[in-house]
Amino acid sequence: MAVKGRHFRGLSRKSSNSTLLFAVFIGFSFFVLILLAFGIFSIPFTSRGLRKVHDLSSISHNAARRRDDDGGRGDQWAEVISWEPRAVVYHNFLSKEECEYLINLGKPHMKKSTVVDSATGKSTDSRVRTSSGTFLSRGQDKVVRTIEKRIADFTFIPVEHGEGLQILHYEVGQKYEPHYDYFSDEFNTQNGGQRIATILMYLSDVEEGGETVFPAAQGNFSAVPWWNELSECGKGGLSVKPNMGDALLFWSMKPDATLDPSSLHGGCAVIKGNKWSSTKWMRVHEYNI
Ligand SMILES: *[C@@H]1O[C@H](CO)[C@@H](O)[C@H](O)[C@H]1NC(C)=O
Repeated sequence: MAVKGRHFRGLSRKSSNSTLLFAVFIGFSFFVLILLAFGIFSIPFTSRGLRKVHDLSSISHNAARRRDDDGGRGDQWAEVISWEPRAVVYHNFLSKEECEYLINLGKPHMKKSTVVDSATGKSTDSRVRTSSGTFLSRGQDKVVRTIEKRIADFTFIPVEHGEGLQILHYEVGQKYEPHYDYFSDEFNTQNGGQRIATILMYLSDVEEGGETVFPAAQGNFSAVPWWNELSECGKGGLSVKPNMGDALLFWSMKPDATLDPSSLHGGCAVIKGNKWSSTKWMRVHEYNI
């Protein structure tokens, strides 16, 4: 009798334990369902996870996210915009102060831009590039050094592989026809070898036009969320709209170290406003200054 009673008590505890366990399980399931319903978290295996390489429609439209009242650089985030060419936009790469600082450094020294003559390796005047510009020296002051260090951290290319920053100014009607940043001559690759990547930093907003356009990019260009804001020129390829503080990084060479013809890019004519930008070209090897 005593044995039986003990057995009965034991069984009752076991069954109440499993009831409790079941209740906890049901409660937890409801909790998860509620979180999913309110979008507090999502299962990663969605259409975003299955996104195709050349699908440009899932790029988010972030222009409105910049906070003007932010004294610093605001939210920073990187966005892959294309895999062919490999191109990334890093939002709020520079602060407003850094943009203004670079413009003021360049302003007194602006000269009509030239292009490199591939036959002679010399700079020549050109109708394909109508902006004006100037070169800064690598590491010329503390602000420049800070920015160059940031570029190295972001691109994984050491500061020593970079050419000096170039400051560029495009007024209404000024543009840069599509071209490659890599060289097709022997002369220009003697110091530092081929150009591997370019980072283009927008120092100002542009009211209309002035996009950076990649006419040879793969994908459906018109699927980008900012399509309706682009100029005619901007609609000729995958385009990035200038946005003060943003940086566009693209690669002139593929991961297999061959040149990437899809890196063809141009600066669309400014239609309204002024475009200030800064470019750094990075080399395969150390670049001596
Ligand atoms: C390209 O994208 C646009 C906008 O999403 C769409 O209307 C159009 O049908 C697409 N074109 C092709 C060829 O997929």
